[in-house]
Amino acid sequence: MTLVNASLNRCAVSVRRGDLIDALDGLRFDLIACNPPYVPAATDALPRHRATTALDGGRDGRALIDRVCVQARAHLEPGGSLLLVHSSVCDPTRTVALLGQCGLEGEVLRRVAGPLGPTMRERAAMLRSRGLLGAGDREELVVVRGYRPHHAAVPA
Ligand SMILES: C[S@@+](CC[C@H](N)C(=O)[O-])C[C@H]1O[C@@H](n2cnc3c(N)ncnc32)[C@H](O)[C@@H]1O
Repeated sequence: MTLVNASLNRCAVSVRRGDLIDALDGLRFDLIACNPPYVPAATDALPRHRATTALDGGRDGRALIDRVCVQARAHLEPGGSLLLVHSSVCDPTRTVALLGQCGLEGEVLRRVAGPLGPTMRERAAMLRSRGLLGAGDREELVVVRGYRPHHAAVPA
């Protein structure tokens, strides 16, 4: 799909297939942009079927988010940033805190409020029963930035 999109938009890209950043062994970037699966699901078991692999992120929606936060620093150049998009139902505060624990300066860069997407809407009752969603049918999409400072101690 990435290759098709790139070709349609006449972009020259190098595509690698793998489990998150594992496919990028040894490579470092100035910018990593990531739109991981983040919809909270019935179980923590991640799906194998193609459609749901794009959506489900375990019971709290954070299975992939947390892994990206932990892995990103090793693949960022000093001065580089991770941009990670997810929903307010996945607790962006936790993302910012985890990035900090992993040696990146975390901040919420952008918040856009809107109605729940179709899958979140289908799962609204489950989300409410777990305290992940309030009374309304709205969520915020957030872009969280993790910045790798030029000079910083590597966290223990
Ligand atoms: C929310 S979709 C985003 C799709 C596309 N990147 C975009 O931004 O429109 C999440 C994507 O992550 C992929 N994905 C799920 N688990 C993955 C993993 N462990 N490693 C790499 N990609 C994964 C899914 O197949 C899906 O394409």
